Amino acid sequence: MTSTYDVLLGRLRHAFDAIHVGADPALRASDRSDYQANGVMALAKSEGVNPREMAQKVLSHLDIGDVAEVEVAGPGFLNLTLTPSFLNSQLRSLLSDERLGAATVGGRTAVIDYSAPNVAKEMHVGHLRSTVIGDALARMYRFRGYHVIARNHVGDWGTPFGMLIEHLIDVGEDEAIASLSIGDLDSFYRDARAKFDSDDVFKERSRERVVALQGGDAETRRLWRILVDESVAYFAEVYAALDVTLTPADVVGESYYNDMLSDVVRDLDAAGLLVESGRALCVFPEGFTNRDGEPLPLIVQKRDEGFGYSATDLAAVRDRVGNLHADEILYVVGAPQSQHFEMVFAVARAAGWLPDTVRCEHVAFGNVLGPDRKMLKTRSGDTVKLIALLDEARSRASSALDVRTPQMDSHQRHTLATQIARAAIKYADLSTDRQRDYVFDLDRMITFEGDTGPYLQYAHARLRSIFRRLNEPWDSAEVTFELNDNAERHLALGLLHFPEALDGALATLQPHRLSGYLFDLAQRFTTFYEACPVLSAAEPTRSERLALCELTARTLSLGLSLLGIEAPDQM
Ligand code: ARG
Repeated sequence: MTSTYDVLLGRLRHAFDAIHVGADPALRASDRSDYQANGVMALAKSEGVNPREMAQKVLSHLDIGDVAEVEVAGPGFLNLTLTPSFLNSQLRSLLSDERLGAATVGGRTAVIDYSAPNVAKEMHVGHLRSTVIGDALARMYRFRGYHVIARNHVGDWGTPFGMLIEHLIDVGEDEAIASLSIGDLDSFYRDARAKFDSDDVFKERSRERVVALQGGDAETRRLWRILVDESVAYFAEVYAALDVTLTPADVVGESYYNDMLSDVVRDLDAAGLLVESGRALCVFPEGFTNRDGEPLPLIVQKRDEGFGYSATDLAAVRDRVGNLHADEILYVVGAPQSQHFEMVFAVARAAGWLPDTVRCEHVAFGNVLGPDRKMLKTRSGDTVKLIALLDEARSRASSALDVRTPQMDSHQRHTLATQIARAAIKYADLSTDRQRDYVFDLDRMITFEGDTGPYLQYAHARLRSIFRRLNEPWDSAEVTFELNDNAERHLALGLLHFPEALDGALATLQPHRLSGYLFDLAQRFTTFYEACPVLSAAEPTRSERLALCELTARTLSLGLSLLGIEAPDQM
């Protein structure tokens, strides 16, 4: 089906085009009428006409009577009110459309770089955000019809591996595997670091080990593999616990690009972009300067340390465009790396590796804060393990369920508590503008009231319970939507907005556009449910209301699934 939004926009475009080819109307949902059309002002300006007159002129070209009533408002807005017959036909189309009106695109590939924890280091809250936002985007892109290639750009290379491998040798392989497999990554790393800082012999051994690693020494590579494999297996457990779609097959770590790095340097040099500066080979992309106005280098290779993070990202862009044929590349990485990515993209463009037709974006996000509004840390000042956050949320959800549904059996309650815990954590992250910081407040995140994941899950379960109480097969095929009650109409309009919400989330790469929509829909439903009895209503109203309930349940469940949140039927 064509979404309501697209039908209206299509008609408006036609009218605008008749007046001035290429003029672009804009449309937004509004509470005063159903939609408000903008763009008349710009059109009036380009034609040199008074805006209200122009609005009248658009109106005279507008063939929309079967769909909406239109009225000129304010300085030149057009207010659109959908006709009852159009509303009915759109809602009936929704009933038979699994996608609930959302459009698809075919033949496009998106590479989404997200999560990217570091080997032998704990996944911290920064990785939580990358993982949760990245996975939501991956789900939305897949639903849109993209071929999605997830890239987990794990930090598995660089100088620290010298000391990590030497520490592994000191501890003994079995011992090391045991501590890594239970996710005790940080103490492993910390112990290695402490020795490196205090013991000169160990330091020297570490240096030699890095050289051996880079030189491809077989035994060194074997030891390195152990560190990588154990960490990746642990990450996989965290992903499973969070219900994240990443698999070990998506791990394409920094080391993967090693063999491409010398070509990167050679080709940058051939393109005349490479400059020797200090003890490093750099590119100075146009438009990047430091505080004193001096050109800023992207360091590609340091004389004593070899290739770095930037060279790897340049090779990755090249690989993603050239070998994976990406139409879009998204990097879901914290805001502090903004300049790094801007510079990498600029250099890749200058080198001809990143054509303008490829959308390449740093999907930046802010910090997770503790109750003191500083970076979230444990009481002892350590980074917080993701798994610990999830466990804590699960135990709170469990206690809430003990009170709410004491009759539920313990297995079911455990499953449900896990689903609620994930929803609480993911939704809190996905419901704020990703660029902003947010306070990690489990008490607030886990409540069943307000703008929370559990609230939306509960709204969905409540809807399903209506159908359980129905106790008879029910089929919405014959329903006519009359929408005589205001609350019915308000809910119905909310249902028709799903495609725009998804379009908005995808266009801005802001999952909160979708979560905000779902919260609004749940509120519309609550208002409706208070005003309009469903099961006790007389036919045909009863069927009409049941159909609205069915559509609301389906929209909530689909929308939540696109955010990576489960929608249990019973809570
Ligand atoms: N491993 C890095 C970190 O923990 C993030 C990598 C992000 N992706 C990339 N292509 N640079 O900060």
